[in-house]
Amino acid sequence: MSVWAILVAAGRGERLGLDQPKAFAKLNGQPLLAEPLRRLDESDWIDAIVLVAPPGWEEPAILLAEEVGCGKVSACVPGGETRSDSVRAGVAEVPEDAAVVLVHDAARPRLPAEVIERVLAPLSEGWDGVVPGLPVSDTLKKVGADGAVEDTVSRDGLWAVQTPQAFAADVFRRAVANGGEATDCAGLVEAGGGRVKVVEGDARLLKVTTADDLAKIASWL
Ligand code: CTP
Ligand code: MG
Repeated sequence: MSVWAILVAAGRGERLGLDQPKAFAKLNGQPLLAEPLRRLDESDWIDAIVLVAPPGWEEPAILLAEEVGCGKVSACVPGGETRSDSVRAGVAEVPEDAAVVLVHDAARPRLPAEVIERVLAPLSEGWDGVVPGLPVSDTLKKVGADGAVEDTVSRDGLWAVQTPQAFAADVFRRAVANGGEATDCAGLVEAGGGRVKVVEGDARLLKVTTADDLAKIASWL
């Protein structure tokens, strides 16, 4: 069974607000992208990696992969306008005989090895997709534009979902080809009627959105 990872790193990082893409923001002196790349490369579960870089940054991305010794990077392609477009660009580089596609956000650099194993395991039980998630613990409120609370929403059964997300390659390819938009890959598979399972995620999979997140993750490494 061959497992292909797609590392999506093509976002602009507007909320981080640097003059370079988020994937190249400095994390303990190295571009952020180095950390998730290294962790995917080191996983025995991953056979090959497709790197989706910010348009115009393919060259520095490839150089970085070489510098950190990532021998599994098989292709590096420019991403698209949305995350789903970037995923589509990545899937196009995955060979027909791949059994499993695992998609990970470069913006979640602190990828624990055991989560990779956790999302891959249920695929052999017939699930189309498996995603890591954490039950929501805060109280949820629907708030209007003026800041007024409109409703308190039950958090019963609500999970905050992370990456890496693993999929049966054939199902994933079909879902992505349908051309929809979703904030995560599972959303594309669900839209096509796929069965997706949630397994236990990890707080360390925090996504770098703001400078505070970057500082927090730097202190963990
Ligand atoms: N991503 C991508 N292509 C896009 C948009 C996002 O590959 N067109 C990737 C990002 O690089 C990131 C992940 O998807 O690894 C999650 O996206 P997000 O955290 O929203 O990153 P950005 O879009 O870069 O940040 P922002 O929304 O603040 O601009
Ligand atoms: Mg974004």
